[in-house]
Amino acid sequence: MRAFASLSFAALALTAFSAVSQTPTTPKVTAPKASLATPQVAQTPPMGWNSWNFFFGKVTDKNIRDSADQIVSTGMKDAGYVYVNIDDTWEGERDASGVLHTNAKFPDMKALADYVHSKGLKIGIYSGPGPKTCAGYAGSLGHEEQDAQLYASWGIDYLKYDLCSFIPEVMEKQAPNDKAAQMKLMIAAYDKMDKALKATGRPIVYSLCQYGWDAVWEWAPALGGNLWRTTGDVQPDWDRIYAIVSQQEGLERYAGPGHWNDPDMLEVGNGKLSLAENRTHFSLWAMLAAPLLAGNDLPNMKPEIKAILTNREVIAIDQDRLGKQGARVYSEGEVDVWARPLAGGAVAIAVVNAGSDRYATHPFHLNLRKLSLDGSQTGKDLWTGKTVELTENMPLELASHDVLLVRVDAPKAAK
Ligand code: GAL
Repeated sequence: MRAFASLSFAALALTAFSAVSQTPTTPKVTAPKASLATPQVAQTPPMGWNSWNFFFGKVTDKNIRDSADQIVSTGMKDAGYVYVNIDDTWEGERDASGVLHTNAKFPDMKALADYVHSKGLKIGIYSGPGPKTCAGYAGSLGHEEQDAQLYASWGIDYLKYDLCSFIPEVMEKQAPNDKAAQMKLMIAAYDKMDKALKATGRPIVYSLCQYGWDAVWEWAPALGGNLWRTTGDVQPDWDRIYAIVSQQEGLERYAGPGHWNDPDMLEVGNGKLSLAENRTHFSLWAMLAAPLLAGNDLPNMKPEIKAILTNREVIAIDQDRLGKQGARVYSEGEVDVWARPLAGGAVAIAVVNAGSDRYATHPFHLNLRKLSLDGSQTGKDLWTGKTVELTENMPLELASHDVLLVRVDAPKAAK
C-alpha cells in the first residue's frame, strides 16, 4: 500500500510541478523529501487542544495562555495532551519584505510560544496555501518558505494548513473545469509547504485540512502529512458527529504511526451534547485512532467533561502503539459494533446505540463470532472501570447515543 502510494504520488508530483512551475508564485523548492521510514513526529495520534471549536475567530493571546495553564492544572497534560494549537484569525498584514505580522489579538507570538513551552507543552499554528485563510486572513501563497521560517523562529511545533481560498483563487482560476489538474495544483501546494517546513530543520507536525477531497489518504502520507482531515467540519451535534463517523469506513488501512486520518477536532464539552454523546464521541475517536484535540472552554470545564477527556484507559486505546485504526465490524438495526486491534494481541470493542431511544434495537444481542471471537471474553468496561464478561448472544441495553467500551487483554479468537 505504501509503495503504491509513494509511486503514484511521485508520478503525480512530477506532473504537478511541471504544471505549476510556469507560474511566478511558485519558486523552485529544493528541500529534501522526508522518508516515510523515519517519521519524527506523531508516532501516536497527536493530542492537545485547538482554539477553533469554542473561540472561533475571537481567540486571543490570553485565551491561549489560559488554556495552556488549564491543560496543566486539570491533569490533561499528564494524561497526554501536549499541543496547544492556535487556529485561524491570529494573522495580521505582511510588511514590505513579505514578512507576516500578527494582528492585535496576538501582540507577541514568540513570547506566547515561549510561555506555552515553559509549561512543558508544544504550540501549533494555522495557515493555508491560498491568498486568504477561511476566515479571510492572510494565507501563505507565494510566501511558503518565509512563513515556515517565521514559524520555526517562533518555536512552532505544529501547522494546520487549510485549503480554503486556494480553491477559487488558484485551482479554479488556473485549471477551470479540470478536476485532475486542480488536484495536481493542490497536491503541489501541500508538498511545497511540507518541504518548506522540513527545510527549517524543526520537527513540525503537518496537518492537512482539505476536507477529505481527492482521496487525500492515498497521497498525504507519502507527501509528509502527519494527519489529514477526512471530512468537512465537525459540529457539537450528534447527527454531525455520527455522520462523520460513518464516513470513516474503509479508511482504517491508511492510518499508522506518523500518519493519521483526522475526523476533525473534539467537540467534547461543547454545545448541547449529552453526557452519553460526549462519551461516545470520545470513545469513537479513540477507536478511530484519531488525533485527540480538545476544543472546549477549559477554564470553565465541568468535572464530568474533564473525567471524559482524561479517562486514561480510553486515551490508551487511542494512543495504542500498534497504531491500527479500528473499524465498524457490523451493525444491527441502529446498534453499531466496532473493534480495534491493540498491541500485545488485545482488542477494544465498542457497542454504540445510534438510535434515538433505547428501544430502537431492544434487546440487542452481541454477536462475538462476527468479531472473530470464540465464546465468553473477560474484559474491562472502560467507562465504569468494572470487569465484564462478554458472552455470545448476550443481551445489551444501552441508552440512546451511549456506548459500551470494553478492553479485552487476552481475547479468545475464533478458529
Ligand atoms: C475551516 C476548518 C476549520 C477551521 C476554520 C478556520 O476550513 O475546517 O477547522 O480551521 O476553517 O477558519
